[in-house]
Formats: sequence, C-alpha cells, structure tokens
Amino acid sequence: MKRSEMEQNILKVLVSEEQIQKRVAEMGAEIYDKFKGKEPLFLGVLKGSFVFMADLVRACQLKSDVEFIAVSSYQNATKSSGTVKIVHDLQQDITGRDIIVVEDILDSGNTLYFLKNYFLTKGARSITIATLLDKPSRREKDITPDYVGFEIPDEFVLGYGLDYKQQYRNMPYIGVLKPEVYSGE
Ligand code: IMP
Ligand code: MG
Repeated sequence: MKRSEMEQNILKVLVSEEQIQKRVAEMGAEIYDKFKGKEPLFLGVLKGSFVFMADLVRACQLKSDVEFIAVSSYQNATKSSGTVKIVHDLQQDITGRDIIVVEDILDSGNTLYFLKNYFLTKGARSITIATLLDKPSRREKDITPDYVGFEIPDEFVLGYGLDYKQQYRNMPYIGVLKPEVYSGE
C-alpha cells in the first residue's frame, strides 16, 4: 500500500514520529544506565517489534547482541485468540543471559506471559520487558513492563511496526484506522 493510500485510511495520529523518536532516545538512555557493564541480549518479538528494535538498539550503545522470536496469536484480526504459537524459534542458547524483551505493544499480556516463562525455562538469568506501547486496561495476565514508551487507551493502533492484516507496518507514526476500513469483518 502506498503512503497516500494508507493516510486516507487513518482516522487520527495517536503518537507522532517526533514523539516516538524522543521517547525511544530516553528509553535507550534508561536501559543503558541499568545495563552498563553487562552484556544483555535484545530479543525482539516479531514481526511487530522490528522497527522499534532497530531504533532502540541504536539509542542504547551497550555491548549487546540481538535475537528474534516470532509468535502468532492474532491471526490477522484485531482480537487475540489467546493461544500463543512460536512460528520462528530462538537461534541461540540463552542460558545465563540477561534478556531485554522488545515488544511493540502489551495488550492482554498473553504473549509476554507465555514468552517470559519460555525464556526462563530456556535458562535466561533475567528478563526485562521494554514495550513501545501499553494498553493496561486490557490486561488479562499478570505482566508488568519495565520500560514503556507510551500508555494508550483501548483502541486498535497501527504503524511503526504494528499492522492491520500485515499492512501499515511502514508508517512512521502510530495511528488509528477509520471504522469503515474494518467493515466487512
Ligand atoms: P497480547 O498477547 O494481547 O498482549 O498482544 C500482543 C500482540 O498483539 C502484540 O505484539 C501485537 O502484535 C498484537 N496487538 C495487540 N494490540 C494491537 C493493536 O492495537 N494493533 C496491532 N497489533 C496489536
Ligand atoms: Mg501483530
């Protein structure tokens, strides 16, 4: 989809490109302070986190490496199915590692609840959660993020890595779709 087409479908901008850049720089600095002298592993949850991950690791010049895991629970709709499935697993041993889980959005908490336990059973030493967005009003599982970019209300959002039916990930800001875009579901 072209940018002009995407923009026609946007009802409002919830978090602007400038707000995101400023906040990600702050989060990078906070994480740097906490992990100075350590060698954490930034672990991105695909696909949604890839844009945030790219900006966050550059805002945090620590000795560190990156890893990804891909899970699916949404199956292309706007509601979670509740079950989390690993569709691309870790490609390295994480035993003894300090993990910084990088997420696009924390919603029901089902995904991170599952992943946190998974990483612990794989021998991670510590788990720190950095999420760009948090919808606390929707939480079903007891999961509290350590770093949050923005708390947002209960609205379906997209852009900056987040998708609706795999589209809009390349928008540079976080927006909300016009209701008519969903009609027909
Ligand atoms: P949770 O398991 O309900 O916490 O959902 C986490 C995952 O659902 C995120 O990593 C997103 O991929 C997806 N998700 C939740 N809310 C939204 C949204 O508003 N827009 C796009 N994706 C979302
Ligand atoms: Mg998604």
